[in-house]
Amino acid sequence: MPDSFPLTDAQAHDLVARAIDARQWSYSPYSHYAVGAALLTLSGKIYDGVNVENAAYPDTICAERVAAVKAVSEGEREFVALAVVTENAGMPCGSCRQFLAEFGVETIVFIADAKGEIAKRTTVKELLPYSFGAVQLK
Ligand code: THU
Repeated sequence: MPDSFPLTDAQAHDLVARAIDARQWSYSPYSHYAVGAALLTLSGKIYDGVNVENAAYPDTICAERVAAVKAVSEGEREFVALAVVTENAGMPCGSCRQFLAEFGVETIVFIADAKGEIAKRTTVKELLPYSFGAVQLK
């Protein structure tokens, strides 16, 4: 993945819109913190995801990981950009940062609020510096 993958403002806003749309399906009866995610892959497809909570709290899965798992299970491994939408533009958790790093630290990450306001444009590398990855296992 090139360092500065060209992504237009329109593409960024489209990705955020997809995350906003997906967010309605969040299953978050315990935290009431709905998260929507949308992941653009190199093929041009967008995979969305929501947080899915469980009465056994640690079994909850975050929206970002749902989107990533949906993409990978469809044969996609090259992630271009991810949009994450919450009420207050919350940042991705540590587990999601690690999970995303597996598929490339250059992936662009947009953090937006429920109105679609982009609070931050960053990368997985910036979110998870000095990350542990496959290279350490060689
Ligand atoms: N959550 C996500 O979906 N993504 C994150 O990166 C942070 C946390 C979810 C998990 C749980 O359902 C709720 O937000 C509160 O932690």
